[in-house]
Amino acid sequence: MKCIPFTMLVLTLSASSFFSQAQEKTTQPKQQSFKPGQIWYDDKGEVINAHGGGLLFDKGTYYWFGEKRGSSASEGVNVYSSKDLYTWKNEGLALAKSNDPTSEIATNGLMERPKVIYNPKTKQYVMWFHLELPGQGYKAARAGVAVSDKVTGPFKYVKSFRPNGHMSRDMTLFVDDDGSAYHIYSARENYDLRLVKLTDDYLSATTQDTLLFSNHREAPALFRKDNKYYLITSGCTGWAPNQASLHVAQSLFGPWKLVGDPMQGPLADKTYGGQSTYIQPVQGKRNAFIFMADKWNPKDLKDSRYLWLPVTFENQQPVVEWQDEWNLTRWKAQE
Ligand code: DGJ
Repeated sequence: MKCIPFTMLVLTLSASSFFSQAQEKTTQPKQQSFKPGQIWYDDKGEVINAHGGGLLFDKGTYYWFGEKRGSSASEGVNVYSSKDLYTWKNEGLALAKSNDPTSEIATNGLMERPKVIYNPKTKQYVMWFHLELPGQGYKAARAGVAVSDKVTGPFKYVKSFRPNGHMSRDMTLFVDDDGSAYHIYSARENYDLRLVKLTDDYLSATTQDTLLFSNHREAPALFRKDNKYYLITSGCTGWAPNQASLHVAQSLFGPWKLVGDPMQGPLADKTYGGQSTYIQPVQGKRNAFIFMADKWNPKDLKDSRYLWLPVTFENQQPVVEWQDEWNLTRWKAQE
C-alpha cells in the first residue's frame, strides 16, 4: 500500500475540516420563501438546529423550539425567533441538559419533540417534551415538563411522568380557543394515540385522558379550523419516512374519523421523505396553516432537514401539496 507523507495528511485533514465548517456557515441573502428539504440557515449563516419542533406566536414574534442534535446526541432544546417565518435568529438553548449524572435530564438521555405554550393565568411559558431517561434508550417513555418566565428561557426542568400511568413518547401540545390545553401522545409502545387535558397551570395531566385510536401512529400534529379538529400522524418506522394519515373530529375527545393520506405530489406516500411535527396557523392570514415535518438523517441527525408546506383545503378537507419553493403571499390577509 502506498504511504501518504505526514505533512500531506495534515494538510488534507485541515482542508477538509475547513470545507466542512465553511459548509455549515455561509452568508445568505435575505430569505423570502420556504425551500422544503434544502439546508436552512439562520440570520448568522449557521444551519438551523431545531428538530421535531413546534412554533409559538408570542407578542408579534414567532418562536421555533426544537431538538438540538449532534450527529446522534440529544443536546437540549434550541429556540429561534422570527417576525416573518423565513429568517430566524438563534436565541440559544431554551432548555439545557444537566451535567449532574443523577439528573433525569443528564446528557446521555433524550429530549425529543419539544413544544411550548404560554399560560396567561400563571404568566409562564410551559414546555412539554418526550423524555427518555439517561442510559435507557426508549424504555422510560415519559413526558417531561419545564417552565420559564421568559419565552426564550432558560427553562427550568420541573418533572417527568407517564400521564395517568400511560407510556408517553411522540407528542404535541394544543391550546384550544377556550384556553384549555392538551397533550396528545403515543402510548402503549406507540400502538395507542391518546389525548389528556392539562391542569389549569398547564404543568400536569388531569384524569380527562382518552384513547383517540389504536392505529400504531406517532408524530402527532393537530390544528383547529372553524369547529373541526384535524390531526396528522405518521406510522412507526423509526427515522424512516412512511405514509401520513389525517383524522378529523368535532370534539378533541373524539370520535376521530380516518380520512386518509393528506399529502399530494411526488413521494406523497412517504410524506415527501419527512415526518410530521407541528401545524402552525399563520397570523393575519385567513385559513392559513403551515405543515411542518422533519426529513430525518439518522446518520447525522443535526443535518436532518425541514419540510414546511402550505395546508390547503379541497372539499373542506386539508391537503398538503408538495412545493419546491413557496411563500406566504399565496394567502390573503385576514379581513
Ligand atoms: C420516530 C419518532 O417520531 C422520532 O421522534 C424519534 O423518536 C425516532 N422515532 C427514533 O427512532
